[in-house]
Amino acid sequence: MDYKRLDFWSMKAQKEGYPARSVYKLKEIDEKFTLLPKNKGQIKPDFKVLDLGAAPGSWSLYVLRKLSGQGFLAACDISPLSRRVDAGLFDGQNFLFRQADIFTADTQTELAGLGPFNVILSDAAPSTSGGRGLDAVRSAEIAHAALSYAAAALRKGGSLCVKIFQGEDSAALIKETRPKFNLLKTFKPEACRLSSFETYIIGTGFKRQS
Ligand SMILES: C[S@@+](CC[C@H](N)C(=O)[O-])C[C@H]1O[C@@H](n2cnc3c(N)ncnc32)[C@H](O)[C@@H]1O
Repeated sequence: MDYKRLDFWSMKAQKEGYPARSVYKLKEIDEKFTLLPKNKGQIKPDFKVLDLGAAPGSWSLYVLRKLSGQGFLAACDISPLSRRVDAGLFDGQNFLFRQADIFTADTQTELAGLGPFNVILSDAAPSTSGGRGLDAVRSAEIAHAALSYAAAALRKGGSLCVKIFQGEDSAALIKETRPKFNLLKTFKPEACRLSSFETYIIGTGFKRQS
């Protein structure tokens, strides 16, 4: 049953020109929480998005298609982006990709310096070890890194969407993050595997102090 659902999303991604089915998770989140402006007329020239853990590039392509040449997207991943279906969007003036580890200080400094960002996305995930507890701990470390990008470079009123593998640390992470946003929710999109223990923390209305 789960595999039938996966085939459905993968085939849809292929048909609609995305390298991975994960795009439908972001699409559903965006439709529910309006992370990105609904119409291109609403996009301000200084509208900026950061995509952490971006490869093979479906989320970045979704954002670039919505930006329609306006605003700016910075993306980062240890792995390269797939150039199979980007139709030149990854060569655009409003896009920058760094193949780097989000934990390194140089990467954090460079990416934060490109902000402030209206939206920070993190679909970054550890390679799964098969041990659910260990994977959840690694995922929580990545989520913490995403939160430190938000602390450094998310605009006041901005939005955050971070993937976590649910585990022992999830409740503490959510508790720590909640006061920093006007609204904080966890949400598991339809396109997630039924069996997966991933979910997304969505924060809107970032309460930047300074
Ligand atoms: C589920 S994939 C992201 C899929 C992507 N959102 C898309 O739609 O194409 C998770 C990504 O996180 C990346 N990743 C994991 N740890 C990372 C780190 N420390 N720094 C940068 N990227 C990382 C992996 O290389 C992998 O490409």
